[in-house]
Amino acid sequence: MSERVLHSHISPSAHFTAYVWYRRGLSDAAFISTFGQFSHGVLRPVMWAGRQFFDLDLESMLLLRHLQIDAGLHRAIESSGVRQVVEIACGLSPRGHRFTQRYPQLCYLEADLPAMAERKRQLLADNGWLNDQHRVVSIDVFAESGPSSLASAFAQLNQNEPVLVITEGLVNYFPRKQIELFWTRLAVQLKPFPVASYVTDLYPELEAHPRYRQIRWGVDLVGKLTRGEYYLHYANADAIDAGFKACGFAGVEVVDPSLRATDLGLPVPTVPGLVRVVHARM
Ligand SMILES: C[S@@+](CC[C@H](N)C(=O)[O-])C[C@H]1O[C@@H](n2cnc3c(N)ncnc32)[C@H](O)[C@@H]1O
Repeated sequence: MSERVLHSHISPSAHFTAYVWYRRGLSDAAFISTFGQFSHGVLRPVMWAGRQFFDLDLESMLLLRHLQIDAGLHRAIESSGVRQVVEIACGLSPRGHRFTQRYPQLCYLEADLPAMAERKRQLLADNGWLNDQHRVVSIDVFAESGPSSLASAFAQLNQNEPVLVITEGLVNYFPRKQIELFWTRLAVQLKPFPVASYVTDLYPELEAHPRYRQIRWGVDLVGKLTRGEYYLHYANADAIDAGFKACGFAGVEVVDPSLRATDLGLPVPTVPGLVRVVHARM
């Protein structure tokens, strides 16, 4: 079975998150799908119960990670002169559209498995948003070579300019050893650039978290719904730091976006944060 087929069970969740971004005013209606709206409706009672009984608000957690990644990208563009961005596993996220509208000088390369990449390319083209500055390529983060490999996508960039790579909603779908393989190959690709960094969300295995049992249940549910597994990586910020450094990154900042909720314009959660946003630089 090809890797593309193996990982295609993850793609439906991109429709769900796309609907959340739209519902919360971060996206255009062009990015939503009937399936996204349907899956949101199906999960609504589960999300309600999470809020009502456990103070766990799935949508707010998703927004925290999304807006914290946005904040890292704004900072990279405005303070570090980043002019090229690669968003891997972009799904139906509106970020590329929002940022290319806001920063017309930006070169934004979106990337996903071939079927999702084609869908995104068509969506952008249909709305007149696809151009030389904003493109979509096929990528399988585990392809060692060939047209869908990391190397093939990075060959399209200017290696004399700073670059920032983003993944969101990808890394916890894979066992740690496998995702570390991707990070190691990514670090190799980033080496030639004068300034290069990588921003990703990551859900750690927080055994001491007061809602740990409910989280494990939720993680198993996501696994069942997507007919795959969902893995929690690393026990704390030190372990994340060590893990990324072992993959070839020189500096690692681990942010708990729940501690920045007010700055991000979101309500402060009543339980400790579950998601981390990792800024790793070469
Ligand atoms: C949960 S969705 C997240 C989409 C988007 N980043 C967001 O936050 O709305 C996960 C995405 O990862 C993509 N994906 C899954 N396996 C992949 C792989 N091996 N290489 C690249 N992308 C992959 C899926 O196609 C899907 O679009």
